[in-house]
Amino acid sequence: MNKNSKKGIVIWFTGLPCSGKTTLSKEIEKYFQEKNLPVQRLDGDVVRKTISRDLGFSKKDRDINIKRMAYLAQMLANHNINVISAFVSPYREMRDFARSLQENFIEIYVKCSKEKCIERDVKGMYKKALNNEIKDFTGVQDPFEEPHNPELTVNTEKNSIECNIREIIDYIEKQSAQV
Ligand SMILES: Nc1ncnc2c1ncn2[C@@H]1O[C@H](COP(=O)(O)OP(=O)(O)OP(=O)(O)O)[C@@H](O)[C@H]1O
Ligand SMILES: [Mg+2]
Repeated sequence: MNKNSKKGIVIWFTGLPCSGKTTLSKEIEKYFQEKNLPVQRLDGDVVRKTISRDLGFSKKDRDINIKRMAYLAQMLANHNINVISAFVSPYREMRDFARSLQENFIEIYVKCSKEKCIERDVKGMYKKALNNEIKDFTGVQDPFEEPHNPELTVNTEKNSIECNIREIIDYIEKQSAQV
C-alpha cells in the first residue's frame, strides 16, 4: 500500500454479528482492486467452513481461530498483500495478539447496538440464540469486548454504508500518505 514499507496493511474489522463487517470489508476490497493493489479478504463465514472447520465457538476455539487468522494475515502482509479481515473477534486479547504480529495494523470497530443487530439478523442466528437453539453466540450468551483504542470506529447504526466506506478510505489514504 505505502511506498516505503514493503509490507501490506492489515485492516481488522471487529464487531457484533450483523454489525456490518462483511458488508464493509467487501467494499474496501473493491477499493484496493480498483487501484490494482494486492488484497486478500479473510471472512469468518468462509474460514469457519474451511481452515477452521474443526473449531467450535468456545472461548478456546475462538482464540485458536483468531490466532490462525492472525498468523495467516502476517504471512500475507509479509508478501506485500493487503489483508482485510472480517471476524467478530470478540476478545481484546486476541485482537491485540493479531496487532502484535503486524507492522501496519488498522483495527476498525464496527459499532452497532445489539438491538439493531438483532433487528437485522441477516442469517437468523440471533433468533436461534435467543431461543436457546444455539449457544455461545456473541451478543446473546457470549461477551463482546469493545475495543479501547481502535484506529477507527464506524457507526453502522447512525451512518450509511457509503458514509462508513468514505471514513475508512479517508483514514487509509491519510495514514499511507504519512508512512
Ligand atoms: N452502515 C452500514 N454498514 C454496514 N452494513 C450495514 C450498514 N447499514 C446497514 N447495513 C446492513 O447490515 C447488515 C450487516 O450484515 P453483515 O453480514 O455485513 O454483518 P457481519 O458483521 O459480517 O455479521 P457476521 O458477524 O454475522 O458475519 C447488512 O444487511 C447490511 O446491508
Ligand atoms: Mg460477516
